[in-house]
Parts: sequence; C-alpha cells; structure tokens
Amino acid sequence: MLEQRDETVVNAFRTGYSAEPAGVWVAPGRVNLIGEHTDYNDGFVMPFALDQRVTLAARPRPDSVWSVTSVNTGRTEVFDADELQPGMAGWQAYIAGVVWALRESGHDVGGADLTLGSDVPLGSGLSSSAALECAALTALVDLNELTIEPLQRAILARKAENEFVGAPTGLMDQAASTLCVEGHALFFDCRDHAIRQVPLADPALEILVLNTNTPHAHVDGEYAARRASCEEAARLLGVPALRDVTDLDAALAKLDDDLLRRRVRHVVTEDARVLEAVAVLEQGRLADLGPLLDASHVSMRDDFEITVPTIDLAVETAREAGALGARMTGGGFGGCIIALVPTGTADAVAGRIGEAFAAAGYAAPAHFVGRPSAGARRIA
Ligand code: GLA
Repeated sequence: MLEQRDETVVNAFRTGYSAEPAGVWVAPGRVNLIGEHTDYNDGFVMPFALDQRVTLAARPRPDSVWSVTSVNTGRTEVFDADELQPGMAGWQAYIAGVVWALRESGHDVGGADLTLGSDVPLGSGLSSSAALECAALTALVDLNELTIEPLQRAILARKAENEFVGAPTGLMDQAASTLCVEGHALFFDCRDHAIRQVPLADPALEILVLNTNTPHAHVDGEYAARRASCEEAARLLGVPALRDVTDLDAALAKLDDDLLRRRVRHVVTEDARVLEAVAVLEQGRLADLGPLLDASHVSMRDDFEITVPTIDLAVETAREAGALGARMTGGGFGGCIIALVPTGTADAVAGRIGEAFAAAGYAAPAHFVGRPSAGARRIA
C-alpha cells in the first residue's frame, strides 16, 4: 500500500511524463546509534534506518537520456548516461553517480524517466544523499534486471559518492540505507562487511532525534582532515587501519603528536563502545546504552573535535531534561543529536532544548522520534 508521500511522487510522475511508472522504490535515511568516524578506519558501526525516506517512481527509456524531477524542488534535470563525468554538482549528481558507478562496474544501464520526493531532512547528518543513491540504485537494478546482492549495492552507491560526487566517506550510510531491517539496528563490521541485525525495541524507551538546524560550514574539509589524520596515525603505528590498534596505551605512547593521540583515542574507544552496545542490546538492556552514548559524545567533543556549541548544548540539555544518554549522530559540525528517553517524553525533552536554544539566541531546532525501519526496497 502506498502512503500519501508516495502517492504524491506517483501523481507527479503521471503529470510530468503522461504515463504510469514501471515501479516505485524507497530508500531510507539513517541515524547512527553509535560508532562515529569508525567506518573509514575499518571499524564498527551501528546505525538504524529511519522511517524518513526517498520515494522514487521511474520507467525505462529506449535511449541513454535521464530525466529526473524532484517534487521537493519542482525542478527537472536532464543528463545523458553516455556523457557522465565525475564532479557533477546538485542533487541529480547522486542519481547520475549511481548510473555512472553501475556502468563503470560493467553493468548495462539505459536511460529513464524518474520522479522522486524525500522527507529526509537535508544536510542534517541523516544521510539524505545515501537515501537518494540507494533508492536510485534499487530502481536501476530492477529496471535493468540486474543481479546485484544488497551489500554489493551499498558498495556501488558508495562508489558513486566517493568517485563521482567526490565525498571521501566510508560505507556506513549506504550500508544502513540498503541493509537495515525494521525494528533493528545494523551492527556492521566495516572491514569484513559482516552484519548482525540487533533488536532495538523496548516499550519503555524511545530515541529522540533532534535537528539543531546548524548549517555545517566547511564540513567536507574537516571530514577529509579527520580521515587524513587517522590514516597518518595508522601509518606511524605500522597498522593497516586504526581498527588494528589492540593496545591503546602502547599506541598512544608511540605517538608524539597530541592531536593524533586524541584522534586515535576516539576511534579505538569508539570501536570498543560499539561492541559493548551490541552486547547491551542483545541482552535486552537498552537503558544501559545511555552511558555509552554519553561517553561517545565526550569523545567526539574532546578527542575528535567534531561537535559545535549548538550540538553540545542540545546534548547537555537532553541529559538535564531526563535523557538516559545523548550524543551527536553523523559526520559532525552540526546536524542532529540522538537522545535515549523514556517513552512519551521526547516532546518534553525537545521542548527543553528549544528553550535553551532560544535563551542562547540559536535558531529553533526540529525533532521526531526515530523508528528503526526497513532498508531500500520496491513498494509497487
Ligand atoms: C558521514 C559519512 C560516513 C561516516 C560518518 C561518521 O555520515 O558519510 O561514512 O564516516 O560521517 O561516522
């Protein structure tokens, strides 16, 4: 059954192309429960897919042209699959990037007429771009009758992001958007790509997602700088990736540079927190996730230095308002926090954060309750 948000996209497709779509596909945004900036260090992450998602209606075309309309912007962009060059700008680059990645990997992909809509907040660290990539990829696989297993789809979507769009991200976002299962968080080993679906349900607790609406200036440069520091530290320590640091004290003693020491400490302790979080959830002790969220935030704030004043205020206020734990989620420098709160209190906690923001002169935040949802799929 299509929901209203999906009907809107299908109706816009019918109006725009005077035809029925061949199918309708969705792919979700995500929050990361814990495991930040660990994915490109071959470490562990534990995101869950949100109910917020990209919906996409499409039909194949006989030529190599792509016509893509966004109901969010009201714009239609056109590109030719035969003429794609990495470095394209705009939201359509995420669609074009997936076409490009499939072709680069030897898959035969033709043109399409496509209409999409998204209710994943943009630029907020909720993976709105991965949702676009994964929705397009899922549609392309079906439209072109390709056989590509889900993990490989995530890897192709990341190739689009890294090599076509040019953002040096890890695999977490595309893995979450593709592999997540309703009611679960995804424990993902970013080295061997092993996955475990971890139940994330406790009637007594819910996860508040609060968007600080902080614009992230210079995010890309800062992200790339963190990644470069981690690679440099791994090189100095003589390990393939920071995932391989087994004795943190010995590693810290080997590094002269205080900044590199703090970067390493974040990654190594964060990996350990993810493993603890898996154990906690698998034992049905969701409340015990709270201290791990708090410790993750402190580590991101003090050691990895990826938080900003609005984010720190939101996290502190969430705790004062009764959250069992809270942390920034996503790449950093703005975006969203998550807070583990007693069921039914999310609005009140968010209200307290809104008051604190008003008092500090910050723009009003937005919020919702994060519901662990299913990954990319065809819905019609
Ligand atoms: C962004 C990237 C991910 C990951 C996170 C930080 O979301 O796209 O690959 O590195 O930041 O955990």
